[in-house]
Amino acid sequence: MEKKRILTGDRPTGRLHIGHYFGSLKKRVEMQDSGNYDMYILIADVQALTDNFNNPEKVRKNVRELAMDYLSCGINPEKTTIYIQSMIPETAELTIYYSNLVTISRLERNPTVKTEIAQKKELFGESVTYGFLGYPVSQAADITTFEGELVPAGEDQEPLIEQAREIVRKFNNIYGEVLVEPKIVLSTGKRIKGLDGNEKMGKSLGNAIYLADSEEVITKKVMSAVTDPNRIKKDDLGNPDICMVAYYHKLFSTDEEIETVCKECRAGQRGCVACKKQLAKNIIEYLRPIRERRAYYEQHPEIVDKILREGTEKARKTAKETMKKVKQAMKLDYFE
Ligand code: TRP
Repeated sequence: MEKKRILTGDRPTGRLHIGHYFGSLKKRVEMQDSGNYDMYILIADVQALTDNFNNPEKVRKNVRELAMDYLSCGINPEKTTIYIQSMIPETAELTIYYSNLVTISRLERNPTVKTEIAQKKELFGESVTYGFLGYPVSQAADITTFEGELVPAGEDQEPLIEQAREIVRKFNNIYGEVLVEPKIVLSTGKRIKGLDGNEKMGKSLGNAIYLADSEEVITKKVMSAVTDPNRIKKDDLGNPDICMVAYYHKLFSTDEEIETVCKECRAGQRGCVACKKQLAKNIIEYLRPIRERRAYYEQHPEIVDKILREGTEKARKTAKETMKKVKQAMKLDYFE
């Protein structure tokens, strides 16, 4: 049986944190290791430029950071193809062809794009760029360049995948059945709250633990996590349901520890400091293999470069095959 093709990826705009890990990376590694899929992961530098066109250095630097985060989490280049989006010109070419198959008002109605534009008033002012408004078209090209059937991603990506499906249907209707219609595979992983209790963990919110954080940094961050505000003295009765430390214990500690921690907190028998120290220790241990692998790649940038180069070369071959079919279907195969 042919393995199903997976296409997924991220914008290289910063290092990854534990929210990304539980939200999507863990799932990707599991899918990779199941052996049932042929997975491509793109480092979406072209898409990152749509809202960072004025900051090319940031995007460039984060391409390698993102690759190192993937590798340290267990993405294995022997099994998974990691590639750089801008090095696949076929994707840019497809974006142009697809732009005829989508209307401006449809793009303006895309809920994800709409939310992002609202958040980026400072960058875009009153009028958004053509490139940003159109990034769903480019994302449809990312996926279809590789005949991606499954796209493991978070809920926020749903409108983008829906839009890609519409483009595929329209293309196939007009030019013939060439493209594969992708499906989203929602990460079953949960969304991780920030250290401050915010619903979202994020760079701009300053409430994240990064996969690359040192032991000291992890400890410092955990010590600053928000606990039950009504608990002032150690023997005040606490409520773990509204405590971020208890929340993270549930992710990183054993069932037994969780039970003891919550029981002693409710009974006023355990201080927050002790509770936080224990949590910090568990997070440090949990992330140790990731941190160690990352340190290895940081010391061997040439290995990271080789992985990216080889992944991109392989991806380019696949992209050319798709492009050939597309051009034939669109009657653009002039001299063949
Ligand atoms: N939109 C994704 C993000 O915001 C990145 C991305 C680009 C992507 N192309 C993709 C994800 C194709 C899945 C499939 O991080």
